[in-house]
Amino acid sequence: MASMESAARISHLGTETAFAVSDDARAWAAKGHPVYPFHLGDINIPTPPNIVEAAAKAIRDGKTGYAPAAGIPELRAAIAEDAARDRGVPFSMEHVSVQPGGKPVIGKFLMALMNPGDEVLYPNPGYPIYESQIQFLEGVARPYGYDPTPTGFRLKRDEIAASVTPRTRFLIYNNAQNPLGAESDDDEMQWLADFAVRHNLWVLSDEAYFHIRYSGTSTSIVSLPGMRERTVLLTAHSKRYAMTGWRLGAAIGPKPVIDVISRLNVNQESCTNHFVQYAGLEALRGDQSGHHQMVRTLKDRRDTLAAAVRAIRGVTVRVPDVTFYLYPDVTDVFRRNGSADSQAFRLDALQKTGVSFCSRDHFGRRQPGEDREYIRLAYSGIDSDRIREGLGRLKAHWEA
Ligand SMILES: Cc1ncc(COP(=O)(O)O)c(C=O)c1O
Repeated sequence: MASMESAARISHLGTETAFAVSDDARAWAAKGHPVYPFHLGDINIPTPPNIVEAAAKAIRDGKTGYAPAAGIPELRAAIAEDAARDRGVPFSMEHVSVQPGGKPVIGKFLMALMNPGDEVLYPNPGYPIYESQIQFLEGVARPYGYDPTPTGFRLKRDEIAASVTPRTRFLIYNNAQNPLGAESDDDEMQWLADFAVRHNLWVLSDEAYFHIRYSGTSTSIVSLPGMRERTVLLTAHSKRYAMTGWRLGAAIGPKPVIDVISRLNVNQESCTNHFVQYAGLEALRGDQSGHHQMVRTLKDRRDTLAAAVRAIRGVTVRVPDVTFYLYPDVTDVFRRNGSADSQAFRLDALQKTGVSFCSRDHFGRRQPGEDREYIRLAYSGIDSDRIREGLGRLKAHWEA
């Protein structure tokens, strides 16, 4: 048998370590224990029926062969129209490349534009695929962090400014941020846009959670002057329409980059699943009541969870208007508990209470000077009564 030694590049490829948390939770449940799943950003709400029906109809209508690499024209046009309406930018279908999920946009954006040795600024704590793809594709990953403030997490502007070198070419920005739920105010977003223009950076704006919001209005950095020509948006149906497993998203940006990204589609998957694209079209153009109902449900859960978290002695949390995550500071409990590290702290909670969550370390390497402990609680996959029950157990354990 040929020896199974991975290619050298694989040593640079990261992963989503949060999936290991799922394995622990599954193993614990398999032993017959109750588990309260707060660890994965998946949604336990069904896809709205009009979307399901559109997929079924597309299959019956024979939309089962290959589709164009960039996506079916109707869906590209609908995505462009939707993004243009929400962001006040005149997109048309030539600016859209349909993707099997939002995630592929990250690697394809970098593959399309980044050369080895180019430096990329990216959020940490943040979605772990940024760092994985930057390093896999031989870029240099330069993390930037956030400061907790009374009004929410704010970009560490000094750190961003100090990280720039003559080789910095890219900025990855995740407004409505996973895991922090951070959202820029106008001043912060304008500062970041000015920064990108001043240093002539390409921006990947990950807007996977743009429509998961409970009050106010989402804004995008692409809407600011000078940004349209340097920004690629990552958008997805996944969270917005409870379609995580369908795999549907898009890259939206300047035509030359989008053309390259579509050429990468040809090489990688040929096209996004054909009939799913008709479901995606119905999602955008059809009845929105399923989306609105889902957001109402998530808001109820958020409020239930926030109240329960705040009732635990020594835990503090800021409650964002976006995403379906809370990112509480559990430093006091951690110290009381005497845990060796965040992994031990997490497993202790799972085994004593059944509550399963990710910790700060699942979202990138800790940076010098970080001395607080955080966990991420996702409320997209657990109903309000179970949230109450799980958090009641956690409170009893952590306060004991
Ligand atoms: C910040 C962020 N970007 C992108 C994605 C990828 O989403 P998709 O399931 O559409 O690939 C996720 C999924 O959790 C996410 O949290």
